Amino acid sequence: MTESATTPAARHARIHPSILSADFANLEAELGRIADADSVHVDIMDNHFVPNLTLGLPVVQRLQQVSPIPLDVHLMIADPDRWAPGYAEAGAASVTFHAEAATAPVRLARELRSLGARAGVALRPATPVEPWLDLLAEIDLLLVMTVEPGFGGQAFLDVMLPKLRRARAAIDGSGAEVALQVDGGVTTETIVAAADAGADVFVAGSSVYGAADAAAAIAGLRGAARGR
Ligand code: DX5
Ligand code: ZN
Repeated sequence: MTESATTPAARHARIHPSILSADFANLEAELGRIADADSVHVDIMDNHFVPNLTLGLPVVQRLQQVSPIPLDVHLMIADPDRWAPGYAEAGAASVTFHAEAATAPVRLARELRSLGARAGVALRPATPVEPWLDLLAEIDLLLVMTVEPGFGGQAFLDVMLPKLRRARAAIDGSGAEVALQVDGGVTTETIVAAADAGADVFVAGSSVYGAADAAAAIAGLRGAARGR
């Protein structure tokens, strides 16, 4: 066992496979492959905030009806102040918007919470975490991107590890219950460093959906994050 196995963050590792890497022609069956994950991560891209286009609210509403596990929605869109509440109304367990795109993030986070969702803020690699540390009480989830958002299958950015450590220290010091999520390039190797730096929720697209046995891949990620 490594030292990370004894940290609270490592003990409560949650795995959120991203359906960005799933077969979009068979989404219900693809949800069935990850039924023992903690949530399904749903990447919404609008071709404006990122140079890619995925799916939107009507598809999420249908996923919500058939998914065996909660929906963790990651909005890579312009103007989340306008569009994010619809995903909370659709029943998503968490709705994460980008810090760089929101005009009034505190107002938006409060609206998401009032609609029954957990409110998340995502940071692109070049976005500093420090301005958000005084706002931790207003959010439920902080997402530190470990790739530039827009595409699956990119390599994990090790240079984000110090940012994760600073975020973990601030969360622990704040007393607020904020999940610390990493997204991008998470594998059984990179998840060890991310867990050691304090992440407790791990998004994994290609490393789960690219595996022949997705359930085994999820179990492998959980085990690696816990240090065994
Ligand atoms: C990237 C998305 C990620 C993506 C991760 O912009 O936000 O959720 O699906 O894919 P992998 O795990 O393949 O890096
Ligand atoms: Zn994502």
